[in-house]
Amino acid sequence: MDMVRSEKLIFEYEKRDEEGNVTGMNRAVDGVDIQIAPGDFVAILGHNGSGKSTLAKHMNAILIPTGGTMWVNGRDTKDPAELWNVRQSAGMVFQNPDNQIIGTVVEEDVGFGPENLGVPTEEIWKRVEDSLKSVGMLEYRTNSPNKLSGGQKQRVAIAGVIAMEPECIVLDEPTAMLDPNGRKEVIRTIQELRRRKKVTVILITHYMEEVIDADQVYVMDSGHIVMHGTPKEIFSQVEELKKYRLDVPQVTMLAEELRKRGLKLPKGILRTQELVEALCQLN
Ligand SMILES: Nc1ncnc2c1ncn2[C@@H]1O[C@H](COP(=O)(O)OP(=O)(O)OP(=O)(O)O)[C@@H](O)[C@H]1O
Ligand SMILES: [Mg+2]
Repeated sequence: MDMVRSEKLIFEYEKRDEEGNVTGMNRAVDGVDIQIAPGDFVAILGHNGSGKSTLAKHMNAILIPTGGTMWVNGRDTKDPAELWNVRQSAGMVFQNPDNQIIGTVVEEDVGFGPENLGVPTEEIWKRVEDSLKSVGMLEYRTNSPNKLSGGQKQRVAIAGVIAMEPECIVLDEPTAMLDPNGRKEVIRTIQELRRRKKVTVILITHYMEEVIDADQVYVMDSGHIVMHGTPKEIFSQVEELKKYRLDVPQVTMLAEELRKRGLKLPKGILRTQELVEALCQLN
């Protein structure tokens, strides 16, 4: 069974005037089909306003489809009786760590989610310890979240989601407000999690470098899925990506420029190591 699947998914926001009267509809997601297997690492790319967050918010039933269907762990998100199960299956991490941290002490914050799920106290403490350990923040358990760096706060937010033991974690630009070090911290944490806990990871990002290890990539534009494939397949299509106002990783761009100048390099080089090896094979 798929972890996340949508069929002809449509979502429309209401447009309102100053008095709050509905003046029309804005279709933010328009006929989206996605299919994500358990344990997959999936990236979603797209220019600002292309519908990524709107799509993501369907994955834990923050939004309910205007049309079509979204299933999470086989459960239809528009069925009110499934809301609890859907929310338990898929946890969300958002862009701004400050809006996600509610506790005054790190461990209290991480325990909040499982407590809400009705997990017994003893089990909560075990989960808090495990999840803080898995994001490398255990030594900060009694600290105040206010004093942490952006990257550390985001790791605590991720620990809070892990403590709920979801099978799937959806991260909506979790590194957008972080400096390069914070970004690396968070991405490393996500990768470590995948390796150790086999959770499904859905990552929305504007940073192409964060995408190269994904199993599959979806590209959105104006509410549609316009490209879908492996990172290699997607980043081989530099011109197509430009059409959707997206870049490719720096190494890919460098290899592409060298190709244009006549070097016989393969398309879709994603890592420095790959480029070095390809260059060494030229004669
Ligand atoms: N709460 C809302 N009410 C009305 N329209 C909205 C709302 N949220 C988003 N939209 C509109 O829906 C469309 C898709 O927005 P969405 O936030 O899903 O895009 P996005 O790809 O996540 O963009 P970004 O990269 O800037 O985060 C945009 O046209 C946006 O203006
Ligand atoms: Mg967004």
